[in-house]
Amino acid sequence: MISSGRNRAYWEQRLRQQEYPTLEADTHVDVVVVGAGITGLSTALRLQREGRRVAVLELNRIGSGTTGHSTGHLDAHVEPSLDNLIHQLGRAQARLVVESRLAAIDQVERNCRELSIDCDFQRIPAYYYCETAEGREQVTRELAAAQRLGLRSELRNGDPLPFTIELSLRLARQARFSPLAYVQGLAKAFVEADGLLFEQTRAENIEGRSGQTCEVKTSGGIVTAHDVILAGHSPMLGLFSTEPRVYPQQSYVLGVRVADDVPDALYWDTDEPYHYTRLAMSDEPDLLIIGGEDHPTGSVDNEQASFNALEQYAYERYDVKQIEQRWSHELWVSADGLPYIGEVPGMEGVQIATGFAGDGLTYGSLAGQLLSDAVLGKENPWAGIYTPSRVRPLASAKKMTAGVLHIARHFVGDRLAGGEVDSIEDVPPGEGRLVQINGEKLAVYRDDRDRVRAMSPVCQHRGCLVQWNNAERTWDCPCHGGRYDAQGRVIMGPPTSDLPVRDVRAAK
Ligand SMILES: Cc1cc2nc3c(=O)[nH]c(=O)nc-3n(C[C@H](O)[C@H](O)[C@H](O)COP(=O)(O)OP(=O)(O)OC[C@H]3O[C@@H](n4cnc5c(N)ncnc54)[C@H](O)[C@@H]3O)c2cc1C
Ligand code: FES
Repeated sequence: MISSGRNRAYWEQRLRQQEYPTLEADTHVDVVVVGAGITGLSTALRLQREGRRVAVLELNRIGSGTTGHSTGHLDAHVEPSLDNLIHQLGRAQARLVVESRLAAIDQVERNCRELSIDCDFQRIPAYYYCETAEGREQVTRELAAAQRLGLRSELRNGDPLPFTIELSLRLARQARFSPLAYVQGLAKAFVEADGLLFEQTRAENIEGRSGQTCEVKTSGGIVTAHDVILAGHSPMLGLFSTEPRVYPQQSYVLGVRVADDVPDALYWDTDEPYHYTRLAMSDEPDLLIIGGEDHPTGSVDNEQASFNALEQYAYERYDVKQIEQRWSHELWVSADGLPYIGEVPGMEGVQIATGFAGDGLTYGSLAGQLLSDAVLGKENPWAGIYTPSRVRPLASAKKMTAGVLHIARHFVGDRLAGGEVDSIEDVPPGEGRLVQINGEKLAVYRDDRDRVRAMSPVCQHRGCLVQWNNAERTWDCPCHGGRYDAQGRVIMGPPTSDLPVRDVRAAK
């Protein structure tokens, strides 16, 4: 079972998860891929089919990271806007970005067809809309940008949602799918092509290149390979210098049963942070998947309140019958609005993909093409745009500045701040708190059956203090997005070891 937080995503509830073995012995392959989300599996399948011997290592279960907790929009649009993209890169390069994203969606469609992946892939339009007159200019500007980049687009007044829309930009021929069913299909095809897939196997360290091979130390043995693909979504294993390139962010999602008739399309608004909506699966047209309320990880002290705000958003706009699902998850936002995909600077043969923001199903699929081409030595027209060694001014990266300041505050401030409560007795059931005892700060979790677990709150990546996330019942690191479950086991992000346990009796 997937357990990367307390709340299960809609996709998990609909699917029976195929299980794969755990690595138990040293192994040698041509390529080792760390992470079995859309990035890792897209890359692994392509390489295996090109004749490379590939092993995929997954900390948890396939799709259990952000992919299985995403909302399955596939579109050529990028965050924060196409207008910003042109401003940052110029028209010619921005056009390449859009072209590469369209090609990635085509690749997903082709895979669904050729591999018979039953993931409800549907070509549908996408709408970028505003609810107030102030947003009209933003939408109109986005139309101009979309048309400059060659996207089939038009303005619409009034439609298509069941509440007041001032203006919307309609993009033709985008898509949606079930992201978890899709990666399960990729995994099946990969294993059928004789790929090696290991679940519940944690990559813990990479030894640099020695001769022709790199060594990846894992929880189940050493894997040696000529090439290493870091597809763990975050700036993994501390290899890729993170500041000030990427920062972690949370996003919240609801499954909302409605009485309204909502056309099958992708929707997102001009709010900051924006809300995004789609229909669930084709056989449940009255279930909406609504997301939003994004914020940098650890920047709020009540994540549950973000769910409440999203619910209020839904109730104010739709005829809601019932809220059926709630889940939240993490993503990484990059400094200049583009992901980093390619060789880790200074590490020959080690490739990474991170910083996808909320566009990573398309970028993850694209990364499958870019990273496999890099390993195969094939030229790729888009490689230069996404290379991690690029140097690009951060002029318009206002959001990034906020994210970096947030990280810096935690590096310095965490060590000075006091504990959240004075004693272990003050930690309520089902909750975690930081407790200061005899000069030492502890992360203390009390489960629903009143059992207490005390841990060091020091993140094992680079030493920030973790914070309790009351929506997912996890310990989240605000610095680079490391996430531990309530018991202190790593479930996401750069850390590769668990929070050290402390003796509760000694701590009382
Ligand atoms: C709520 C939400 C909604 C979103 N909706 C959309 C959307 O509609 N459209 C869109 O394009 N994007 C969306 N995104 C972003 C998108 O989901 C992600 O960018 C994308 O799924 C990233 O895929 P990935 O394969 O790179 O990472 P992941 O899916 O996170 O996979 C990485 C895998 O690596 C594993 N791993 C990590 N560390 C290790 C280790 N040390 N050893 C072994 N394995 C490891 C993890 O367990 C995980 O399974 C959304 C994000 C969120 C949070
Ligand atoms: S994830 Fe980097 S310090 Fe915690």
